[in-house]
Amino acid sequence: MKRALCPGTFDPVTSGHLDIIERAAALFDETLVGVAKSPEKGGGPLFSVEQRVAFIEEATRHLPNVSVRPFDTLLVDFAKREGATVIIKGLRAVTDFEREFQMAALNWRLDSKIETMFIMAIPEYMYLSSSAVKEIARHGGSVRGLVPDHVAVALERTLGAH
Ligand code: PNS
Repeated sequence: MKRALCPGTFDPVTSGHLDIIERAAALFDETLVGVAKSPEKGGGPLFSVEQRVAFIEEATRHLPNVSVRPFDTLLVDFAKREGATVIIKGLRAVTDFEREFQMAALNWRLDSKIETMFIMAIPEYMYLSSSAVKEIARHGGSVRGLVPDHVAVALERTLGAH
């Protein structure tokens, strides 16, 4: 039984994240999505960790081998506690590489039994990020298609997109 862990802040989950989660779910017996509280990130997330978990649960309801859980510890400790042996991260353009390379190296230093693997974003989602989506919504632009519909509604309600 191979269990993979897809970690992130997911503030909020985008169609790009969901593509990576679906592809991980097709490769592993079980895929756990770990939602980091990340209170320090960018002045604090827009959505609470409970909201971010609920958004992903709703968007992955059709995937029986995917579960979603919040965490507020070191990633490798969370992986160990949940019995996951592989960390899956999505890679977009080269801009992601430096940060992901550093995290993978540090996680390996913390626990070399947990492997980090990368899945390349499909071209359609290479440009997509949670921060870009929030910026578009904040300025009243449409985020339909960039995030699941229920997340677009929540962004519209919170940031006033149309
Ligand atoms: O979506 P993000 O913000 O790129 O995800 C980053 C995340 C949550 C994977 C990363 O910040 C993380 O692993 N946080 C948990 C704390 C930790 O283990 N830090 C050391 C890894 S370098």
